[in-house]
Amino acid sequence: MSAYIKDLLGLVSSYTALEGNLSEQDRQVMNRFKQKIDLEFLMEDVGSLLEQSNEGLTRVKKIVQDLKDFSRVDSSDSWQKASLVDCMESTLSIVNNEIKYKANLVRNFQPLPYVDCMPSQINQVFLNILVNAAHAIEGGLGTITINMYHDDKCVWVEITDTGKGIAPEIRDRIFDPFFTTKPIGQGTGLGLSISYGIIRKHNGSITIESELGKGTTFRIGLPIEQAG
Ligand SMILES: Nc1ncnc2c1ncn2[C@@H]1O[C@H](COP(=O)(O)OP(=O)(O)O)[C@@H](O)[C@H]1O
Ligand SMILES: [Mg+2]
Repeated sequence: MSAYIKDLLGLVSSYTALEGNLSEQDRQVMNRFKQKIDLEFLMEDVGSLLEQSNEGLTRVKKIVQDLKDFSRVDSSDSWQKASLVDCMESTLSIVNNEIKYKANLVRNFQPLPYVDCMPSQINQVFLNILVNAAHAIEGGLGTITINMYHDDKCVWVEITDTGKGIAPEIRDRIFDPFFTTKPIGQGTGLGLSISYGIIRKHNGSITIESELGKGTTFRIGLPIEQAG
């Protein structure tokens, strides 16, 4: 496209050079038109506009690639051996915008074995917990810390926020479908119940530790190998 525009601008310049050959009347018509479209400015501006469009397109391409990695539209949603670090990174690039004004992110990722899982579903779980963590942080920048490590049987993923914490009296209900403490329109109350279902399908575990006013940790354990 920029090559085309360059050619067009070249053509305009050639015509401008020939203006001397025009009759006085034609020249006036041309001049009026040039003023109307502010030709000089247009010719300067068009280059930087193109550059900006290019940047925009590059950004869109990155977003589409992130979304593809995240949802794994390229591969079917099936059991496979996957790196949970890759799952976490592709999820983080999706939620980064939601998080970055709320919290600093700390990654403690140990080297991990591949895990038998349905990666797009695991991404969904990470997404729900990370967004909840960001929502829980109020009044200034907090911290979200992600720990990933493993033992003989399981990979462990801990997501800790410095948010408002979960009151003991609702702790048993947060995994219930439609349970939300968020205003209408902000929370569906489905994130954690869906996440719980996904982790159960993976024969894993999900537990919480929380202190009011201090923060919350969600700990997910996923078996490295599925039996059978
Ligand atoms: N990290 C967290 N800190 C504090 N409260 C949380 C956190 N994660 C979840 N919750 C509580 O659990 C509820 C249910 O979460 P969820 O199922 O994701 O639904 P939603 O986010 O739509 O409210 C939230 O409304 C909130 O009260
Ligand atoms: Mg949620």
